[in-house]
Amino acid sequence: MDKIVVRGNGPLNGRIEISGAKNACLALMPAALLSEEPLTLTNAPRLSDIRTMTTLLQSLGVEVAAMQAGKVLSMSGHSADNHVADYDIVRKMRASNLVLGPLLARHGQAVVSLPGGCAIGARPMDIHITALEQLGAEIELRDGYLHATAPGGLKGAVIDFRFASVGATENLLMAASLAKGTTLLKNAAREPEIVDLADCLIKMGARIEGAGTDTITIEGVDRLRGATHPVVADRIETGTYMLAPAIAGGEVELVGARLDLLGAFTEKLDACGIEVTQTNTGLVVKRRNGRVDAVNVVTEVFPGFPTDLQAQMMAVMCTAKGTSVLEERIFENRFMHAPELVRMGAQIEVHGGVATVTGVDKLRGAPVMATDLRASVSLILAALGAEGETVVNRVYHLDRGYERVEEKLGACGADIERIQGDD
Ligand code: EPZ
Repeated sequence: MDKIVVRGNGPLNGRIEISGAKNACLALMPAALLSEEPLTLTNAPRLSDIRTMTTLLQSLGVEVAAMQAGKVLSMSGHSADNHVADYDIVRKMRASNLVLGPLLARHGQAVVSLPGGCAIGARPMDIHITALEQLGAEIELRDGYLHATAPGGLKGAVIDFRFASVGATENLLMAASLAKGTTLLKNAAREPEIVDLADCLIKMGARIEGAGTDTITIEGVDRLRGATHPVVADRIETGTYMLAPAIAGGEVELVGARLDLLGAFTEKLDACGIEVTQTNTGLVVKRRNGRVDAVNVVTEVFPGFPTDLQAQMMAVMCTAKGTSVLEERIFENRFMHAPELVRMGAQIEVHGGVATVTGVDKLRGAPVMATDLRASVSLILAALGAEGETVVNRVYHLDRGYERVEEKLGACGADIERIQGDD
């Protein structure tokens, strides 16, 4: 298994190009199942999760051609004839559940393995299931698979989500686009990835209004056509690299980054002493003074502080001036990076969903273990400002969501290298 070795070596200066958003791309790809005509995504990130979604769609009969070294994905659902999403693929990545809505809309039936829990929490699918049942689907769990049928076809309905689930909103957007009649989604998720999916579906001929607000109206159409759509910039990758100069110092330009996608995150950066300037090409980020100030963080749905940036923010708080309290409200078990940061000298106490971090002057390099995607990158960030060498093990998590992290940070002067594993 590959490792990443980082030696903290002072300020970072340079430019980092922001990739297309993993989580937008993972929701956009299953939309290929909704049309007989090709869907082409440009600005796709080159990540292992995208390759997993490619394998899943291929197993469902979608033809996928990757061009420009994977940056352009052309998908044709023309001969997609399989409606069974196999456990062996689904277990690798929870976002596989995003084929449930499109398969039901296309075939009137779907068999999708229940993904199971993952390191950050139980992550059930009840919100997806209840909402699809309201569209007329009959769904039962047998042998670990969700067996869904829509005998009379999907029909528009009023759906009031009990929680603004990102994945459930995406599944419903796709399913309702081909349902008969009008669907009203209340308490819908408002994340930029939802807006990106809705924009793409609208290009394909869907009638959707209100994406980006908590109330979305979808008027079902008979068929969707092909389209070409650029994947929106990755706001989580952006936020992650914004925090690199917060820890190591220096000035970094994030090319293609969009401030309007960051919500409450930028307010927290400002509060802790990080200056963000918008340019014609992206964002320039640097510390206003020396060490940043401690701030408190509560993770919330968009536009609140994103759970996907909580681990990285904790890494910053480890060497901030003062004590900060980070409260994780989206996932029940998303502090696995804390004990690893403690191995580097951080002072962190975790009680349930609340972590209290008392800033220290310096962290020290150590061998650490990546436990999930965002935890992995938080350890790399921490290592950039630490004294000595940090070896991050199990970096396959990182490759799921960060494209060429060692090249991007290396181009800004970081001393970072990947050591290839034997397997
Ligand atoms: C998406 O996951 C993202 N994944 C996650 O990114 C992100 O952390 C999360 O949204 C929250 O922003 C993708 O977009 C592929 P949810 P998703 O449904 O859709 C509970 C990353 O690091 N819930 O909004 O699965 C659930 O257990 C990741 O890139 C139910 O109880 O998130 C969780 O506590 C990880 N029942 C909360 O809601 C359901 O039916 C939020 O989940 C669905 C969700």
